[in-house]
Amino acid sequence: MYNSKITGLGYYVPDNIVTNADLTKMMDTSDEWIQERTGIQERRWIVEGSEDTSSVMGAKASRIAIERAGLTKDDIDFIIFATLSPDYYFPGGGVQLQEMLDLKTVGALDVRNQCSGFVYSLSVADQFIKTGMYKNILVVGAEFHSGGLDKTDRGRGVTVIFGDGAGAAILSRCEDNNKGILSSHLFSEGKHAQELTVISPSIKHWVPAILAANDESDESYFPYMNGTFVFKHAVVRFSEAIVAGLQANSLQASDINMLIPHQANLRISQFVQKKFGLRDDQVYNNIMKYGNTTAASIIIALSEAWEKGKIKDNDIVVLAAFGSGFTWGSVIIRW
Ligand code: ACO
Repeated sequence: MYNSKITGLGYYVPDNIVTNADLTKMMDTSDEWIQERTGIQERRWIVEGSEDTSSVMGAKASRIAIERAGLTKDDIDFIIFATLSPDYYFPGGGVQLQEMLDLKTVGALDVRNQCSGFVYSLSVADQFIKTGMYKNILVVGAEFHSGGLDKTDRGRGVTVIFGDGAGAAILSRCEDNNKGILSSHLFSEGKHAQELTVISPSIKHWVPAILAANDESDESYFPYMNGTFVFKHAVVRFSEAIVAGLQANSLQASDINMLIPHQANLRISQFVQKKFGLRDDQVYNNIMKYGNTTAASIIIALSEAWEKGKIKDNDIVVLAAFGSGFTWGSVIIRW
C-alpha cells in the first residue's frame, strides 16, 4: 500500500465580480441581508460570451496545478472531475479536460456529489493511489452556476449564494507513510434529496415536454433549496464528519492546524469553528469573495490558503463538506 499526497494546487475564477449591490439591481435583496445570513460580499459570475465553462475553468486551474507539482501533462494517469454544472448533459466534463489539456488517453471519471464533490473525488483518488494503480491523479472541482440561476425575486433565496470558479489538485504517490491523506470518510442520506435539487431537465421531464407546456411558473429547472432545513443538517453533519476523521486517526480537535470547510455559508463555518474551539487562524474561509462554488469551493480555498503560506509542512489539514444529496464527508491530511 502507498500513501497519497497533494503535490500541486491551482485555481481559476472569472474576472467578473458581482457585488451584493449589483444583485439589488436584479432582485429584491440587500447587502445587509446577504452579509448577515451568509457572510458573502461578492462572487464571480462568468459574463455572457466568455469562453469560460466548467471544463474550461477546470482546465485553466489544472495547468497551474500540474506545473506546481513539477509534472508535465504526460505524467497524469487519471482524471477525476466533480461538478454539478457540466458543459453537457452527457458526456461528463472529465473527457473535455482530457482533450483540452491534451492528456494521454487516460481514464476520466465524473463525480456527481455537488458540495461534497471534491471530498468524494479526493477519497476516490486516494484509493487508486493506495493500491498502486495510478501515480499522479488530476482532481478537479469546477462550477458554472451563474448560467443556471433564477436572477429574479423568485430565485433570491438561492441565487445570492452561488458563484463560479474552479480548482485543481494533483494527488501523487508518496513514499513517506506518515504524510499525505490519513483518512477519508464519506456519507449520504438520500431521503433528503429533494431538499436541495434541480429537478429538470430529467428523462421524466425532458426539454420538449417543458417547451410544449410553456408554463412560466415551472421552476423545476432552477435550483431549489429548503435553506433552513439544509442549514440545520449541515451544522450537525459537518461536525460528525470531522469527528469521524479525528477519531480514526486518534487526533483531538486541538491537533487541527487548518480546517477548510466547504464554503456553503460563513455562519455554518463559524458554528463548526466554535464547536471545535478553533481560533480564526485555524479555519480558512473565502466565501466572502467567491460565494458558494460547490465542488470547487474547498479546492479554491485550499489553494488560496496554501498560496498565502497558511499551510506548512506536517500540518494537520482537515477538509469537510456537506451538500445536496444529502452527501457529506471529511478528508484528513498530514501536509
Ligand atoms: N434577500 C432578502 N430576503 C430574502 C432573500 C434574499 N436574497 N432570500 C430569502 N429572503 C427572505 C425570505 O423570503 C424570508 O422572508 P419571510 O420571512 O418574509 O418569508 C426570509 O428572508 C428568511 O428566509 P429563509 O430562507 O428562512 O432564510 P435563512 O435564514 O434560512 O437563510 C440561507 C437562507 C442563507 C439560504 C440559509 O438557509 C443557508 O445558508 N442554508 C444552508 C445552505 C447550504 O449549506 N447549502 C449546502 C450547500 S449547497 C449545495 O450542495 C449545492
